[in-house]
Amino acid sequence: MSTHNIAVIAGDGIGKEVVPAAITCLERIAELHSLTLNFIHFDWGSDYYKRHGRMMPVDGLEQLARHDAIFLGAVGSPDVPDTASLWGLLIPIRREFQQYINLRPVKTLDGVASPLANKNPIDLLIVRENNEGEYSEVGGRMYQGLPYESAVQETIFTRLGVSRVADFAASLAAGRSGRLTSATKSNGIIHTMPFWDEVVEETVGRHPGVAVTHELVDALAAHLVLKPWTLDVIVASNLLGDILSDLGSSVTGSIGLAPSANLNPEMRYPSLFEPVHGSAPDIAGKGLANPVGQIWSGAMMLEHLGYSDAAAHLQAAFESALRDGHGTRDVGGTSSTWEFTVAVVSAIGALAPDYQAVSGTPAS
Ligand code: NAI
Ligand code: MG
Repeated sequence: MSTHNIAVIAGDGIGKEVVPAAITCLERIAELHSLTLNFIHFDWGSDYYKRHGRMMPVDGLEQLARHDAIFLGAVGSPDVPDTASLWGLLIPIRREFQQYINLRPVKTLDGVASPLANKNPIDLLIVRENNEGEYSEVGGRMYQGLPYESAVQETIFTRLGVSRVADFAASLAAGRSGRLTSATKSNGIIHTMPFWDEVVEETVGRHPGVAVTHELVDALAAHLVLKPWTLDVIVASNLLGDILSDLGSSVTGSIGLAPSANLNPEMRYPSLFEPVHGSAPDIAGKGLANPVGQIWSGAMMLEHLGYSDAAAHLQAAFESALRDGHGTRDVGGTSSTWEFTVAVVSAIGALAPDYQAVSGTPAS
């Protein structure tokens, strides 16, 4: 029996609803695949911040480092500055644990209506650089409150940072269509973006069979809306990747569907799995949250831990629940978070005979 210790941070808002939903599904999967997943809960987030003046304890990262993976809901609360919630928890985890890949699949799911008139199936991967770029601490504010007040924020791209994300994306593309699209803005951003383009080009050149197209991000945003089915793997900087992934999930139906994996590919540190969406204070506590993004992130976690079969089983189960019309309101259904979760658990049971053949055996 393989055992894994998973650090769970449900966080704020709907994180407290979708995380228990996903854990219920993961526990059922674990049972059927002879896995032991120990979920260790941490009450960190905005409520913790209001009590302690910080999002997590001083030794929070050391505590997390002892786990095999981190499963996060969302952080952010209307009465705590977003800079405190993001920079006090999520960004330090992504950086300290060298989770330099943020992998965000975008896929059409049966039973979910896309807002697009053209119903060609969409199946693409967004690979977002997760450690540097536009999200930098370098900069400052001057002359606050005066008419000539100013703010400066530096973007940092390093050869190491750009080449490793391009490398990862090119490897993914090699296993798919061989087509990689790099999001750029090298016409307007004249130092960092041409550097990004050059390093991406050089890196992809070392991957036979992969061709890269550099697309200006404004045109690429339009492309994602007009013909998303022609895109396969997109590599983008921290900010551009963030924007494109909210857009990508919206064209498939709802941001509530979108999963993400913050990966340390070397597995030297734990990786973190979380939905793309935030804490959605507008719907929190009402049982309206779509748990698919969180459940799908759980499937990505199983895959990362080496359980491809269990991951595929969980994926097939939530896809089947959606196909059978159990969706939440954001995807046009009427189910509550919990009703949808019950439908997924029942689909897990129904699909078990198809997935149990290699149960409990991690992929080598
Ligand atoms: P959001 O993603 O929380 O919500 C955007 C819209 O999508 C809202 O109308 C919301 O109701 C809807 N929505 C989101 N997830 C949904 C789900 N699972 N099911 C159904 N509808 C869903 O983004 P917003 O409103 O910009 O941010 C709210 C808070 O979350 C802020 O404090 C922000 O900083 C934080 N945030 C945290 C993230 C994280 O923890 N990784 C990521 C994005 C935002
Ligand atoms: Mg975002």
